[in-house]
Amino acid sequence: MWIYPKVVAHRGGGSLAPENTFAALRCGLAHRFHAVEFDVMLSGDGIPILMHDPEFGRTVSGRGSVCTTTAKALTLMDAGIWFGPAFAGERVPLFEDVINFCKKNDVWMNVEIKPAPSYEEVTGRVVAQMTQRLFSSELAAPDRNNPARLPLLSSFSFDALMAAKVVAPDIARGYLVDVIPPDWFAQLNTLEATALHTNQKNLTPALVNAVKQAGFGLFCYTVNEPIRAKEIIAWGVNGFCTDRIDLIGPQFV
Ligand code: G3P
Ligand code: MG
Repeated sequence: MWIYPKVVAHRGGGSLAPENTFAALRCGLAHRFHAVEFDVMLSGDGIPILMHDPEFGRTVSGRGSVCTTTAKALTLMDAGIWFGPAFAGERVPLFEDVINFCKKNDVWMNVEIKPAPSYEEVTGRVVAQMTQRLFSSELAAPDRNNPARLPLLSSFSFDALMAAKVVAPDIARGYLVDVIPPDWFAQLNTLEATALHTNQKNLTPALVNAVKQAGFGLFCYTVNEPIRAKEIIAWGVNGFCTDRIDLIGPQFV
């Protein structure tokens, strides 16, 4: 089942701001988005930070790896200049700071656990533990049965999600796949996942029906054309993330 927002700003502010930065989150908010997807990776000293690529060179300059660089050094890197001079000086955010920002601004989070290669299990565990700790009051509150208030953890890494399930079973999980595999049902059940997250390009109405009939939510990435968004929603897709937050608004569906 999908109880979460239907339209989600991809990587914070879609294609309007440097991905996975506070500038992106502010941009999403300026476009009235109160639902966001972003990527979380571990620094070399085991601190969760927002980053998509395990190697430097695209959103931060230079050569090197996130998994061998301290969080302190990462947060001093410029994650905005690649996107445009107006964003020069935008830093790599700490996941903890982003959670606090989102809570303060009433922004729902789809936290994509994005492990660097061979850091799958530890990344899932640490990200889930931090999420659980920072949402402990929501988890303990009498209305905790409104899980829409809590983030949704997703990942392409089955092992990361299994680790998340062990340490934070009450934080919902979505399994990310590019192509829906033949054993999707067994995998979702093993993960005790809430939803399947998949590439909209590989979707068919029959697959949508099967996933929905099985009782799982179905979320798609990344839908940037309004016509396509209407089509997959008509098929029964529950929600999607978009880079075109200027074209597809939070109330689009
Ligand atoms: O979470 C959906 C989407 O973000 C997955 O792909 O590469 O944009 O993180 P990517
Ligand atoms: Mg992502």
